[in-house]
Amino acid sequence: MQNKSFIKDKKLNTSILIKNNYASHFIKNISKKKEKVFCVVDSKVKKYLNLNKEKNIKIISIQCGEKVKTLASYKYLAEKLIKNNINRKSTIIAIGGGTLGDLVGFVASTVLRGLEFYLIPSTLLSQVDSSIGGKNGINTIYGKNLLGTFYQPKKVLIDISILKSLPQKEIRAGYAEIIKHALINDYSFFCWLEKNSNKLIDLNKSILEKAIYKSIMIKIFYVRKDEKEILMSKNSRAMLNFGHTIGHAIESHYNYKKFNHGEAISIGMITEAKISNNLGLLSSKELERIIIHFKNCRLKIYDKILKDKLLIKKITKDKKNFFNNINFSLIDKIGSSIFYKKLDKNKVYKILQNI
Ligand SMILES: NC(=O)c1ccc[n+]([C@@H]2O[C@H](COP(=O)([O-])OP(=O)(O)OC[C@H]3O[C@@H](n4cnc5c(N)ncnc54)[C@H](O)[C@@H]3O)[C@@H](O)[C@H]2O)c1
Ligand SMILES: [Zn+2]
Repeated sequence: MQNKSFIKDKKLNTSILIKNNYASHFIKNISKKKEKVFCVVDSKVKKYLNLNKEKNIKIISIQCGEKVKTLASYKYLAEKLIKNNINRKSTIIAIGGGTLGDLVGFVASTVLRGLEFYLIPSTLLSQVDSSIGGKNGINTIYGKNLLGTFYQPKKVLIDISILKSLPQKEIRAGYAEIIKHALINDYSFFCWLEKNSNKLIDLNKSILEKAIYKSIMIKIFYVRKDEKEILMSKNSRAMLNFGHTIGHAIESHYNYKKFNHGEAISIGMITEAKISNNLGLLSSKELERIIIHFKNCRLKIYDKILKDKLLIKKITKDKKNFFNNINFSLIDKIGSSIFYKKLDKNKVYKILQNI
């Protein structure tokens, strides 16, 4: 790892550049070295980029949100690129939130068996989480992210000036993933967030930069240890899934309409913290402290579906599970997580009835 604004990871063959007001320059610089660049951009972000004059840049604008992560969008985008004569020397740049990045990453890794690709995440959530680590994917009717690959972008540009237009609801969603990183890995970061969350949510530049950098480093720690999520230990990449077993089930149950990803995993984290407490892993005092912080930041903590049998059905479809038992990434302290294997689904149902 090098200095604060440039993180190069030789093992993963990717790098992350943190630089403000740089997105348009970054794209133009890439286009100077390439015959053809395909920029796939979230339609809400397109207006902030100044690219129309570049001859070798083809812009494809897409309306984003969870509904874009489908086989239909995959087909649309892959065929559009092929129709426009994409070739092995072309480059794809995705500029958008986590939904666009997940879709474009999957397309980039499969069209012509894999093309050079760059990411410019445009939501807080995608800057602190989804753009890092090389996972991509789309949803199926059976659940979230069930089709996808591991494929590292050549470079990720984090430009926080893009966040100015982001609605508060989406900033909170990104904040949820930041807290997740603190909860699973770093007690002092959690204490710092308790003090600074309001400034962060108001997009205070230095606070935001520190939180983004810290989050990225925690995520990279797990990705380096376990890029393909094979381990079933404390160092497993699956630790980053804290709150997501329940969160993904909630999102999928409501067909991605009632909650955005960050809201669903906020409810998921509190619920999984309660499960940790019920299993005797997390103390009631620490559980209470986490709940207070979530309430202070106006993050969601509960939904009535938690007590419904239908949710258990969804939970058993999670990628971490084998043979009908449920594997959870739980926390045993603030800042410390464990891989909890083979929890019986009836037991999970019982715990959920009492939370
Ligand atoms: N691949 C991974 O490792 C990983 C990790 C975490 C989350 N994810 C995925 O990320 C997705 C959520 O990402 P997200 O929260 O970025 O959602 P998103 O892409 O749907 O973006 C949220 C909303 O903000 C809009 N938007 C994007 N940038 C904007 C900007 N700068 N200004 C104004 N509006 C803007 C989008 O159009 C959308 O309406 C989920 O599908 C989740 O599964 C993936
Ligand atoms: Zn997430």
